[in-house]
Amino acid sequence: MKTEHHYQKILVTTVKLAKPAAYFILLLLTYALGYLSAPSSSTFSPPPTPTRIVSHSNSSTHHTPVLHLSNSSRTHLDYFRVTAQCSDPIHPDIVRPTLLRYLFNGTSPFTDFPPEHAARRLRRKRVKGWGSEGAVFENLIRRVKPRTIIEVGTFLGASALHMAELTRQLGLNTQILCMDDFRGWPGFRDRFKDIQMINGDLMLYYQFIQNVVSLNATETILPVPFSSGSALIKMCEMGVYGDLVEIDAGHDFYSAWSDINRAFRLLRPGGIMFGHDYFTAADNRGVRRAVDLFAALHGKKVHIDGQHWVIESS
Ligand SMILES: C[S@@+](CC[C@H](N)C(=O)[O-])C[C@H]1O[C@@H](n2cnc3c(N)ncnc32)[C@H](O)[C@@H]1O
Ligand SMILES: *[C@@H]1O[C@H](CO)[C@@H](O)[C@H](O)[C@H]1NC(C)=O
Ligand SMILES: *[C@@H]1O[C@H](CO)[C@@H](O)[C@H](O)[C@H]1NC(C)=O
Ligand SMILES: *[C@@H]1O[C@H](CO)[C@@H](O)[C@H](O)[C@H]1NC(C)=O
Ligand SMILES: *[C@@H]1O[C@H](CO)[C@@H](O)[C@H](O)[C@H]1NC(C)=O
Repeated sequence: MKTEHHYQKILVTTVKLAKPAAYFILLLLTYALGYLSAPSSSTFSPPPTPTRIVSHSNSSTHHTPVLHLSNSSRTHLDYFRVTAQCSDPIHPDIVRPTLLRYLFNGTSPFTDFPPEHAARRLRRKRVKGWGSEGAVFENLIRRVKPRTIIEVGTFLGASALHMAELTRQLGLNTQILCMDDFRGWPGFRDRFKDIQMINGDLMLYYQFIQNVVSLNATETILPVPFSSGSALIKMCEMGVYGDLVEIDAGHDFYSAWSDINRAFRLLRPGGIMFGHDYFTAADNRGVRRAVDLFAALHGKKVHIDGQHWVIESS
């Protein structure tokens, strides 16, 4: 039964608690190192006082370690800032044209699609996702009525196309930015042999575009075909913010951690960040630890919706 399975999971997580604790300690070291290597500031302040980690094994829903930060540790969170200031937000109406110009030299990636060399290697429609139609998408879209959605990790577009359909049904004027390097992951071919390759280059990007074309979502969806690290920082510099930001790219701790930290800055006031694999086999690779650590450091609550985690900006 599902609840039984769920309960087992809580027990397993409890037993594994030593691991998150190790991350926190590592983090403290990072604080100290960051402090020591930071460019010399005019005034000397002592390194942060130790942080107490308390775990609540009494929760009936899930297990979130809580980090108690002293005031001086909080000020040292500054060392986690990844870039300079983000620009002021640009108007949602000009997000698409701005990105078309900046990323694609003004020509839509859907224009004259498909090119000949790709056409014969594509299927009319090939969509596959994971939890891509979970209730969380409809719940959040109904609630936030987003003008801009930033998706970090798109793959063949299952979740993006689901969101496009939801915004269409609700009559919303929404742009969904699909950030993905469209390289999948090493070993990707084991499970997706039908996605063809040219000189080692995957047809993943082309098949995604083809899926968007097949489902008539070319006006709603815009690919941002770059690595999440550089693309999220560029969005920040350009003032492209999201009302909803979905995180579903690299699932190891460091990838999830950096995506979450960079993406959170791109939330509009009242915006919501959410992501997959809080409660799946993949959470164990680090997604949940990254989410919990982020929430603890920022004093946020992690809400659960099916397999997804949800963190509100305010
Ligand atoms: C789990 S799939 C996304 C699934 C999609 N959200 C859905 O539900 O249908 C993860 C995707 O993240 C992308 N990805 C992984 N690391 C990335 C990175 N550093 N930058 C950009 N994309 C990345 C991969 O190419 C892959 O397509
Ligand atoms: C768990 O929490 C409940 C309510 O907050 C409390 O009454 C109970 O004593 C707690 N149990 C343990 C083992 O801490
Ligand atoms: C920490 O900061 C809060 C708010 O600024 C203040 O009320 C509290 O007294 C401070 N605690 C310590 C131990 O300095
Ligand atoms: C970019 O657009 C300009 C103006 O339309 C055009 O002259 C130029 O050739 C384009 N560059 C590329 C790389 O397509
Ligand atoms: C997309 O639009 C075409 C032409 O308007 C239509 O024939 C087709 O059924 C539409 N497909 C979907 C999935 O809405």
